[in-house]
Amino acid sequence: MSLRLGVNVDHVATLRNARGEAYPDPLDAARIAIAAGADGITIHLREDRRHIRDADVAAVKAGISKPLNLEMAATAEMLAIALATRPNACCIVPEKRTEVTTEGGLDVAGQQASLAPMVASLRAAGIRVSLFVDPDPAQLRASAAIGADIVELHTGAYAHGKPDELARLQDAARLAVQLGLECHAGHGLTYANVGPIAAIAEVMELNIGHFLIAQAVFDGLPAVVAQMLALMQAARR
Ligand code: PXP
Repeated sequence: MSLRLGVNVDHVATLRNARGEAYPDPLDAARIAIAAGADGITIHLREDRRHIRDADVAAVKAGISKPLNLEMAATAEMLAIALATRPNACCIVPEKRTEVTTEGGLDVAGQQASLAPMVASLRAAGIRVSLFVDPDPAQLRASAAIGADIVELHTGAYAHGKPDELARLQDAARLAVQLGLECHAGHGLTYANVGPIAAIAEVMELNIGHFLIAQAVFDGLPAVVAQMLALMQAARR
């Protein structure tokens, strides 16, 4: 299938940190997800280390057989960690300390001057650069202009039922490819809403975390990854 699933294991670390124990280990979750068919693993090293920690980044990079996508804010500290870790890809996201999750897309258009050197440094190190953006043509054009490889379209508003959002995502995916960008999507995706996003032919990868880890509490991670892949495949046909 030309649509890949990246499994975000951040919330395995959330659960671990809630008790200050060494389990459950996000590396174990990453390996189980890959064995169940995941095409890659995503982790977000937040500035406040609320879930994934520095040691997890190194352990997951060293311990998995599939590509690692490291989500991070556009800071000098994160750039240094990315250059030392050399994940397959970095997805640059906006980050606010008080937010529960990544609430909106990155304002690439408004921050071109500061983002461009970061994109260049990562690319020079052989790391693919993805920018997490709202499905807004101005953000896509700015992403292409500063040399990003990928845009990940924020599906949060769609997942929350905002009218017309699916059409915006479809249009944005088409524009991304016209601009020479690889198109990914993610945030808030579940069994119930993944179909229309998976059906967008231009989308090459979905990154899904919270729902998969939450549902795995009931069904187990292998079954949940397999079911999400089956739904993605069915939508693509
Ligand atoms: N993509 C990006 C860039 C994200 O920041 C997140 C959340 O960490 C996701 C995808 C996954 O979102 P969710 O956990 O809602 O599936």
